[in-house]
Amino acid sequence: MPTNRWSEMDHYIHDHLLAASKTEFDTVIQANAAAGLRAIDVPAVQGKFLNLLVTISGARRVLEIGTLGGYSAIWMAKALPEDGKLITLEYEPHHADVARANFARAGIAGRIEVIVGAALDTLPQLQARGKAAFDLIFIDADKPNNVGYLRWALALSRPGTIIVLDNVVRNGQVLDATSTDPNVLGSRAAFAFLQNEPRIDATALQLVGTKGWDGFAMGVVKG
Ligand code: SAH
Ligand code: DHB
Ligand code: MG
Repeated sequence: MPTNRWSEMDHYIHDHLLAASKTEFDTVIQANAAAGLRAIDVPAVQGKFLNLLVTISGARRVLEIGTLGGYSAIWMAKALPEDGKLITLEYEPHHADVARANFARAGIAGRIEVIVGAALDTLPQLQARGKAAFDLIFIDADKPNNVGYLRWALALSRPGTIIVLDNVVRNGQVLDATSTDPNVLGSRAAFAFLQNEPRIDATALQLVGTKGWDGFAMGVVKG
């Protein structure tokens, strides 16, 4: 696997197109490492892609499932309008604390709400609030619950809502129909769900770079 070249090319893209954001986002990565969080944030180029998706779609309400230290949340929230809102769901209180500190440092704490708890337990709160549907939903938490999260994403969506699901390639392990890895099973279940869900029009993109070979599925909720 030519992972060295993938990394070099990732750095090349980063140096040319993401340099303006480097210091700010490196600070987040450093704060996460100092707090003992695993470095499983989205790669920078993918964070920027999520940021552009918010801009392109004109999203005002974004939902994230799986906060970690808030790296992907900051990329997305920075593209929101002043009155936009991002809600992010996180199981680990320590991760949520680290994320809140990162949001404050980034000057966007006012646009972000962190809800602590198992997402399948906290998602019903969002429905009960009766607010407008989310415009963009990024699913990046515990993979065995992928299908549950996709069902919730549909419940909290409107026609046109964008749904992005991370880690659907996993170095190609997702091809292995005999795998017993719960993460692989979770990604395979997501593909089966999307295959059979006529309300979501979807594709998946393979990505290579500093974090190896992975990718995300993305789709739009149909009318
Ligand atoms: N989106 C982040 C990375 C998320 S890593 C980024 O790119 O910056 C996955 C996160 O999901 C971890 O912080 C983990 O604690 C959280 N998680 C795991 N199980 C969860 C659950 N049941 N509900 C909510 N969050 C969960
Ligand atoms: C893992 C989870 C992620 O969301 C990710 O982007 C990379 C790795 C993991 O649990 O190993
Ligand atoms: Mg991920």
